Amino acid sequence: MIYHDAIVVGGGLAGLRAAIELNRHNVKVAIISKVHPIRSHSIAAQGGINAPLGNHPRGGYDNWEKHAFDTVKGSDYLADQDAVIRMTKDAAERIYEMEHWGCPFNRNAEGKIAQRPFGGAGFPRTCYVADTTGHALLHTLYQQTIKYKQASERKEMVIYEEWLVTDLVVEDGICVGVIALDIISGRLEAFQAGAVIFATGGAGRIYGNSTNALINTGMGMAVPYWAGVPLKDMEFIQFHPTTLVGKNILITEGCRGEGGFLLNNKGERFLEKYSDSKKDMEVAPRDIISRNIIREIMTGGGFDNSYVHLDLRHLGEEKIIQRLPGIRDICMEFAAVDPAKDLIPVQPGQHYTMGGIDCSTECETNVKRFYAAGEAACVSVHGANRLGGNSLLDTIVFGAIAGSNAAGHVRNSLDKKGEGALNNALKHAEQRIDALCKSASNESHTDIKIALNKVMDNNVGIFRNASKLKEAVNEVKTLQERYKRIKINYTGKRVNLNLVWALELNGSLDVAEAVIAGALAREESRGSHFRTDFPARDDTGWLKHTLAYFTPEGVRLDYKPVNIGPFEPKERKY
Ligand code: FUM
Repeated sequence: MIYHDAIVVGGGLAGLRAAIELNRHNVKVAIISKVHPIRSHSIAAQGGINAPLGNHPRGGYDNWEKHAFDTVKGSDYLADQDAVIRMTKDAAERIYEMEHWGCPFNRNAEGKIAQRPFGGAGFPRTCYVADTTGHALLHTLYQQTIKYKQASERKEMVIYEEWLVTDLVVEDGICVGVIALDIISGRLEAFQAGAVIFATGGAGRIYGNSTNALINTGMGMAVPYWAGVPLKDMEFIQFHPTTLVGKNILITEGCRGEGGFLLNNKGERFLEKYSDSKKDMEVAPRDIISRNIIREIMTGGGFDNSYVHLDLRHLGEEKIIQRLPGIRDICMEFAAVDPAKDLIPVQPGQHYTMGGIDCSTECETNVKRFYAAGEAACVSVHGANRLGGNSLLDTIVFGAIAGSNAAGHVRNSLDKKGEGALNNALKHAEQRIDALCKSASNESHTDIKIALNKVMDNNVGIFRNASKLKEAVNEVKTLQERYKRIKINYTGKRVNLNLVWALELNGSLDVAEAVIAGALAREESRGSHFRTDFPARDDTGWLKHTLAYFTPEGVRLDYKPVNIGPFEPKERKY
């Protein structure tokens, strides 16, 4: 059995920031990550990170209250306002910390951190590094972890790369550690810890048409869900308005923040036809723009019944090369179009999971010593619809909070618990894997995954209704049954990705079931969740969070109130 005072699962922005915070508090910490940390999905974030610095010449005076108001309004009033206030108050400090650690933010004419307009923001408050902001932030934090790893005055910082966590081990309501599979050697190991933080990212790949990395299977949400931690607000799935047609590679909102237009097949900026995007046009929030793109396509304004155009030509080649070089490369490489000369074919695609592991503003869950942060968590700061630029902020604000609270716990009461429970869990995990490897059945995990992606894309997308959602419930139940007869083709120990994908598919299926159940139960339209059979928001019946609990018979739903603060729910107009 391996022991660390604290374990962080996930090596993306939230995980690294949490580990740094723990280590700063002199706690011995280990990071367990399915991939090398700089291959985490945070690397793919493009357009920027929000903070009310007020540096934009057009921005005037910005402050955390305005940022908080925009975030709550963007969330369609489902965000917990105490959490939003905490995030927006901490934003500037976290950004300057990243700047001091060496993050090469773009600069404005005064030499300050540059800020660009983003959707749903009353001020241009999105700080950025061209269109590779996630890349720059992740490398900055990774450098810090290496520095901490090597600093002799610090307690240890160990990184387990390419280990898949299969179980969260809980004894008497207290988290005592995790079970993880070393993907390279095939060895299963029990890790005992004084505190565990999950920062494992989102579940985007339960969908097929997604901007997410293939690693975002939802396993990091499923593991605590199986151990009794509820998932919150899973029905709220964000669809980014502009992904490259067919491939669904992200085409950053920064394109529209810099002045890009969305055009229909008549060359019109069609967003002005729709009352909810008429005023803010291309920088209205994502849920609104995605719906209006689909409406435009469905009423004959698209191309091939599947996409519209993004026009950057008027920005000029110099600005495109300077501010959007990654987008230029993506367009040239994957669609053979040059954004300085050509129109970019775009369509909405799954992008973000607003829901996640239910936790408080302090990142605590219903299990003692178990914390969550980043996209895996639902604090909730994004409610029913996240504003662009707030996810990167969420990772570094709540990563630091989770790390600090876990450190407090470890320092105050470090007792090694749960050896028996960990040994038991290890034995069960070994038996599960053994059974999978010896299975005489013939269901293929790839076929089940493709079928899951298809039903999520077709039935649980931007526009939903009861009959499509009921179909999806039945289909996922069938797939869960088929999963019981799964056979893996390769049974060797070393680098058995067949086994890894098969284990993760179990998580994807159960997380998808929670998404669909929440969506079917929520008979209203709010933020990203639009029910054509219940098109209005219902603050009387549905201003509440959904909680999904795992049971062997399937998901059980419950609800809890939203923390309403200074911002009373109003009609959302842009
Ligand atoms: O469009 C983007 O660059 C995405 C940003 C975000 O999801 O926050």
